[in-house]
Amino acid sequence: MLDHLKTTDYGTPLRESTQEVTLEIDGQSVTVPQGTSLMRAAVDAGVQVPKLCATDSLEPFGSCRLCLVEIEGRKGFPASCTTPAEAGMKVRTQSPKLQKLRKGVMELYISDHPLDCLTCSANGNCELQDMAGVTGLRNVRYGFDGANHLASAKDESNPYFSYDPSKCIVCNRCVRACEETQGTFALTISGRGFESRVSPGQDQPFMESECVSCGACVEACPTATLQEKSVIELGQPEHSVITTCAYCGVGCAFKAEMKGTQVVRMVPWKDGKANEGHSCVKGRFAWGYATHQDRITTPMIRAKITDPWREVSWEEAIAHAASEFRRIQAKHGQDSIGGITSSRCTNEETYLVQKLIRAAFGNNNVDTCARVCHSPTGYGLGQTFGTSAGTQTFKSVEKSDVILVIGANPAAAHPVFASRMKKRIRQGARLIVVDPRETEMVKGPHLQADFHLALKPGTNVALISALAHVVVTEGLLADDYIAERCDEKSFNAWKDFVARPDNSPEAMEAVTGVHAAVVRGAARLYATGNAEGVKTGRPVNSAIYYGLGVTEHAQGSTMVMGIANLAMACGMVGREGVGVNPLRGQNNVQGSCDMGSFPHELPGYRHISDTTTRSQFEAAWGVELSPEPGLRIPNMFDAALGGSFMGLYCEGEDIVQSDPNTQHVAAALSAMECIVVQDIFLNETAKYAHVFLPGSSFLEKDGTFTNAERRISRVRKVMPPLAQYADWEVTQLLANALGYPMHYTHPREIMAEIAALTPSFAGVSYDKLDQHGSLQWPCNDSTPEIGTPIMHIDRFVRGKGRFIVTQYVATDEKVTPRFPLLLTTGRILSQYNVGAQTRRTPNNQWHSEDRLEIHPHDAEERGIHDGDWVGIRSRAGETVLRATVTERIQPGVVYTTFHFPESGANVITTDSSDWATNCPEYKVTAVQVAPVTQPQQRSAWQRDYARFNAEQIAHLEAATDGR
Ligand code: SF4
Ligand code: SF4
Ligand code: SF4
Ligand code: FES
Repeated sequence: MLDHLKTTDYGTPLRESTQEVTLEIDGQSVTVPQGTSLMRAAVDAGVQVPKLCATDSLEPFGSCRLCLVEIEGRKGFPASCTTPAEAGMKVRTQSPKLQKLRKGVMELYISDHPLDCLTCSANGNCELQDMAGVTGLRNVRYGFDGANHLASAKDESNPYFSYDPSKCIVCNRCVRACEETQGTFALTISGRGFESRVSPGQDQPFMESECVSCGACVEACPTATLQEKSVIELGQPEHSVITTCAYCGVGCAFKAEMKGTQVVRMVPWKDGKANEGHSCVKGRFAWGYATHQDRITTPMIRAKITDPWREVSWEEAIAHAASEFRRIQAKHGQDSIGGITSSRCTNEETYLVQKLIRAAFGNNNVDTCARVCHSPTGYGLGQTFGTSAGTQTFKSVEKSDVILVIGANPAAAHPVFASRMKKRIRQGARLIVVDPRETEMVKGPHLQADFHLALKPGTNVALISALAHVVVTEGLLADDYIAERCDEKSFNAWKDFVARPDNSPEAMEAVTGVHAAVVRGAARLYATGNAEGVKTGRPVNSAIYYGLGVTEHAQGSTMVMGIANLAMACGMVGREGVGVNPLRGQNNVQGSCDMGSFPHELPGYRHISDTTTRSQFEAAWGVELSPEPGLRIPNMFDAALGGSFMGLYCEGEDIVQSDPNTQHVAAALSAMECIVVQDIFLNETAKYAHVFLPGSSFLEKDGTFTNAERRISRVRKVMPPLAQYADWEVTQLLANALGYPMHYTHPREIMAEIAALTPSFAGVSYDKLDQHGSLQWPCNDSTPEIGTPIMHIDRFVRGKGRFIVTQYVATDEKVTPRFPLLLTTGRILSQYNVGAQTRRTPNNQWHSEDRLEIHPHDAEERGIHDGDWVGIRSRAGETVLRATVTERIQPGVVYTTFHFPESGANVITTDSSDWATNCPEYKVTAVQVAPVTQPQQRSAWQRDYARFNAEQIAHLEAATDGR
């Protein structure tokens, strides 16, 4: 195998045990945890036993018989992968007899294998080839004229990998990877004996099977049978760089395997703590967007958005942007401009943008996409626990007895964590899902939720109070924990509130639509580990994971506090296996919040009005800072329409597509005098821009991302920026042009400044990141070297945990005769957010349009059939898309995704928002749905959009000569 591709494979997984055993392998003494296989113990002793069907990410299977060993005093030749080490054993891994047996095994394999090593795509990276060498195979006595599989047809249906059955050795690694690692159970070994072959589904092509293209089988395959098409095309990579996925908040670590500056493949990194060698279709395969022909690599400017773009030099673009910002400030005042940081960019880049706004713009008009996703998490967890982040590591779920998933579909949005969670559920953990839809987490292969609380959208707070009511009135409170850890006064007030009869599951049934008995069962299960609510005295670990189905509501912050209340009341915060965990959407949304992207907070969530904190930043940055919080994104829009906010610097964020009430956003942007967009593509927002500054993808820069477990991981440059500069360098150029000096030469210097100014990051440095792989904040002198895996262990960050009364208030978005259905929105596995990246990859083959899911009952009432074009209308707007009739959604509720600009999902959503943070209420919009007779006409908005889009493409082509 090529040296740089090698990582130690211990053959079987690590076993954890308090007992150890000492044995001898090939004369070497070795001590291992009880339960460790002989194969793994041998690696610890420095000996590699030949193997084919074993790999350390999977349970041993014992089928290939290549790993046979001799044990003194025992007859026969046991397989070292399935034989546990025992104290005092004396094991021999090499002997003439073993050599002969292994050669025989290899001979059989090779007699049914195409000997095309020189032209095989796995040449140099094939375990079968390696084992032929290790066993000393020199000839094959059986010849190739007998029955064989050499002419079996390839399955090329998957866009990213091919399946060549002629090379399959039926080692079962792929089948086990799909089951154990991914939890999809898409593969089987069909046929018996010689006829046995790997088969997706019922002998279907991969693309027609249940396969979700995670790549776990490809990663596990020891031969070229399952092989990345990029490797087939480009050949084996020659070097590799460890970096972090730029899609979701799981933050998987990858080895970017390269040829020069060309990515050959992205391989999930075994030592990555967030993913431990697993991946999903996006991070593993959908990276081609980075070099897509739509990338814009030359800066452009124009006076009006009705003008064609003009390509200019970086100097001209930056000078123009700076002079426009200063002109607007001179005309409309210092506060008339602002900026939006990007949750796709690195911590260092985000930090620089907020610094530029506070120090060079001279105001606090900075906000970020978390405004529209997890700002209620910041507020809610800050109020109750004292800090606004998930309490656990992902690995902690391996210690959970009960998992409560609220308003999240990790199988679609956080797939690698979902796999971990599903594995734990298969091991026996109980599952409660709170979601209006029957998501993949409710029912799937080897997965069935104990309770599915299919509530009506908008009634979360009523439900959480009903769950708490059961805990309080049935004596399920964790009294000792509460007495020791929580604020007594606030607890008593909360307890009296939830105990009221009007908060009982029976009283709330009419509001939530969830049967009282289901709520009672779920509450008992969460509090005690059994649905009967019997306190057994055995410690029970119940963990809550929640998503945007919690936050994107008029009462989003209230619900976050309700979740925190429930967890404290049951003593479920502060150790492994428990906790309250927001599943953050974008790769660095945790980081962008940490880095001071909100208008009222400096890095580390410190209020801008706090004089002590502000003066530290003033001293370091050499400017006076405004103590007044700046504008939030919705306030920026309103101020633009009011004529007082006229300039925007928007880095790596597509507010036109992602923010609610598209027409309102477009009107606000159209009212501004200068919009500077920094992005890799001409996104929807850029179509309203006056200056376009080309951005850089995660492959083109150094920096760090922070995932949903507060884990800070390195992003490493594998290719030079296509447009010359990384994003942090562009921000720096702009700052200098505005007259505010910035002279960083590498992002490590920016991190050093962050660490110096932010107590929770004080111990973070690039050296330490290189040393440990990743760090979890808080990371400083008072934490272990690697930071804080589990938060609030002995006390809450704020001291005593604070309960908050959460009164349910029905949202203004109510069904009416005019709008009798509730629309809720979400994501799908293959697409990501506004789709700008994934739409530019073959992921479109799974999901090429946004569809409206509607229950058969509502469909029939309206004469709608599966696949029909339907119009959907709310008080904000109207759009047309195709219907999927499904029982996954409950009657009275419809659902869509928002990955395609032309479907205009956010034309429908309104500007109703969370009372505390203005997070939009994406999850509840009252709508009407009707069949449309002339789908080609789409809605008025879609016709306008098509016209506007065509104009903007023409304006771009005018600048680029149609390149
Ligand atoms: S790609 Fe993933 S889901 Fe598909 S068969 Fe392989 S392991 Fe299973
Ligand atoms: S496809 Fe690969 S991993 Fe699966 S059984 Fe065949 S050789 Fe083994
Ligand atoms: S789970 Fe998220 S971070 Fe991991 S590979 Fe998929 S998109 Fe990337
Ligand atoms: S590696 Fe042990 S039997 Fe295959």
